[in-house]
Amino acid sequence: MQNGNDGLADAIALVTGAAGGIGTATCAALTRAGAIVIGSDLGECPPNLQVAKWMRHNVSSPEDWGAVRSAIEQDYGRLDCLVNNAGTIVIGSIEETSLADWRRVFHTNVESVLLSLQALLPLLRIAGEGRRGGASVVNVSSPAGMRPRGFSSAYSASKAAVTSLTRSASKEYGRLGYPIRANAFYPGGSNRLGMASTVHARYIELGLAPSQAQQEAAAIAVTSLKRNCEPEELAAGIRFLCSTASSYMTGTDFIVDGGAA
Ligand SMILES: NC(=O)c1ccc[n+]([C@@H]2O[C@H](COP(=O)([O-])OP(=O)(O)OC[C@H]3O[C@@H](n4cnc5c(N)ncnc54)[C@H](O)[C@@H]3O)[C@@H](O)[C@H]2O)c1
Repeated sequence: MQNGNDGLADAIALVTGAAGGIGTATCAALTRAGAIVIGSDLGECPPNLQVAKWMRHNVSSPEDWGAVRSAIEQDYGRLDCLVNNAGTIVIGSIEETSLADWRRVFHTNVESVLLSLQALLPLLRIAGEGRRGGASVVNVSSPAGMRPRGFSSAYSASKAAVTSLTRSASKEYGRLGYPIRANAFYPGGSNRLGMASTVHARYIELGLAPSQAQQEAAAIAVTSLKRNCEPEELAAGIRFLCSTASSYMTGTDFIVDGGAA
């Protein structure tokens, strides 16, 4: 256990999308910090994932959020940190984006955050009363929500909505006196992470980029640091927002993108 004085030792933390690239690294980072991590995703727990508990969980489902709340309430009685990380993307032009795809992206990326805040509010309030700065909600947004690159309109709009919802939550909690912080996290693209590789492949398929190598080089070129990020570098940002080291931060945009344009 490390850094036991930053509010993560024995903190109860839920990470959605825990089987994916950023989710896996986040579970490991929080576990290393001493948190009791509940990972959730659509399928079974991947081997070697560092979690104390696993839940199969579709984040678009109100019923699943009810089951998650009941399980956490029964096992732990509170929730210190909520990381809404699960996400999905559709790549295609606006004219070709079907309403079904648009809705699927919004259900997964935005409604999930609303459902989480509704289902888990009592558990976050309980934890927040006893924690410096309160309980912490980290909603994983995307730089695409600020600077859409085209051909991913549903995704970009959904991530802008995640940011807006996060700011609304932080303001409301402040006005209502709830001991809960809410911040939006912006991961830079890494060519090595699940979602980025899906995007690269689809851009090539649509003729929007000549090759995987060219796509990867372009993604690196827009960063100031001129390299890929490691998933651990993204997880470190989420870990910071979960910890009491960020106890005076709420309603912020926290960007870890290597200085991308
Ligand atoms: N990787 C990047 O370059 C990047 C950049 C900006 C933002 N993000 C955001 O970071 C988050 C994680 O991305 P990642 O790169 O680790 O992607 P990933 O595809 O590796 O992981 C996403 C996870 O979410 C899960 N998921 C999808 N729909 C779900 C649902 N309905 N219910 C439960 N789980 C569901 C998937 O099964 C997957 O395990 C996402 O919200 C993504 O939008 C990623």
